[in-house]
Amino acid sequence: MNRHSTAAAPGPIYLDNQATTATDPRVVEAMLPFFTEKFGNPHSTGHAFGWQASDAVEAARQKIANLIGADAREIIFTSGATESNNLAIKGLARFNRSRGDHLITTRIEHKCVLECFQRLQREGFRVTYLDVDDAGRIDLSQLSEAIGAGTLMVSVIGAHNEVGVVQQLADIGALCRDCGVHFHSDCAQAAGKIELDVNSLKIDLLSISGHKMYGPMGIGALYIRRRPRVRLQAMMDGGGQERGYRSGTLPTPLCVGLGEAAELARLEMADEARRLTGLREQLLASLRKNLPNLQVNGSMDHRLPGNLNLMFAGISGDDLVTGLKGLAISTGSACTSATVEPSYVLRAMGLSDRDASASVRIGLGRFTTYEEIEKAGELIIGEVLKLQASGGQSSSASAA
Ligand SMILES: Cc1ncc(COP(=O)(O)O)c(C=O)c1O
Repeated sequence: MNRHSTAAAPGPIYLDNQATTATDPRVVEAMLPFFTEKFGNPHSTGHAFGWQASDAVEAARQKIANLIGADAREIIFTSGATESNNLAIKGLARFNRSRGDHLITTRIEHKCVLECFQRLQREGFRVTYLDVDDAGRIDLSQLSEAIGAGTLMVSVIGAHNEVGVVQQLADIGALCRDCGVHFHSDCAQAAGKIELDVNSLKIDLLSISGHKMYGPMGIGALYIRRRPRVRLQAMMDGGGQERGYRSGTLPTPLCVGLGEAAELARLEMADEARRLTGLREQLLASLRKNLPNLQVNGSMDHRLPGNLNLMFAGISGDDLVTGLKGLAISTGSACTSATVEPSYVLRAMGLSDRDASASVRIGLGRFTTYEEIEKAGELIIGEVLKLQASGGQSSSASAA
């Protein structure tokens, strides 16, 4: 039921859905009228053009709220998860500075989260970085010990962009609530892929990205809890839109697109998760049969349905990625893959530099077909065997 063709021209098979996802054609269709016929400024309160745009924005806001069990008044639009994370983390810390100076996060967060905490450290905050085990998950007792009198916030990534590992969000939320500490989760990868309910998980702030869930690029959202009320310092000055948290004219077509993407994800999530898990198991089984030494990085029990992160001993992941002309996969997060250093995430999970450099990320998505998975398996097996036969590690791995 999820078979909708993308506009993409025939070319390499796309298995990098943690980097970005194609915008669902149904999302594009919903957006189009808001570029041309229904182009009003949603903040124009004096005429029908404005009301029409504003109604569409509010309908979209409701759909995003429905995806995570929130109230529409708790959703604000941003430009993406980077902005949502910045606003949540820096906004909460700075607003509450008089109440405490301690913050907690993990070693495996996305760069945009880690950089926020590093900036706050330069402003005088103390930050605890939690370790993860070899499955990629945090230790709840370490978290519990880290929380102290001056702790303001715990920020833990919901589902990981490299290893797809899903954290114990309900346990973390319960612990934070008991201790009176705010809980933020970067759910750029989790939203729309796994069930998230901000009330049962006791999440106070939750970041969403449009382009990770078949919506457009350049739009995201931040959930901000109303009860008990969470308050943030805004980052931008201006017209005071989005309850003062995010000034600037809302991009109606993008808001509509994110709303439609959220609605589709909510309706199709369970079926799609089953389908992707099946395809992933098929790929993994065929790789294992032909490459018995491969290792899966991160928990297989607590993982996004479409994600694999695999280590092929003795080769360079970069060489594999560049050698696979017919397949788009990556060695890690797109935002940091310009650097040749082995992934800090895999190293935090206990992999040696050499094994981290021999790892690749594979992300299946809504438009991935059975035939593509069969072909991808053949391509990977052929290339890995070729690299292993030629002595494996070359350029980037020897530099690491
Ligand atoms: C876990 C995670 N957080 C944040 C981001 C940043 O999202 P955006 O591209 O919407 O700013 C990404 C994107 O790679 C991500 O995977």
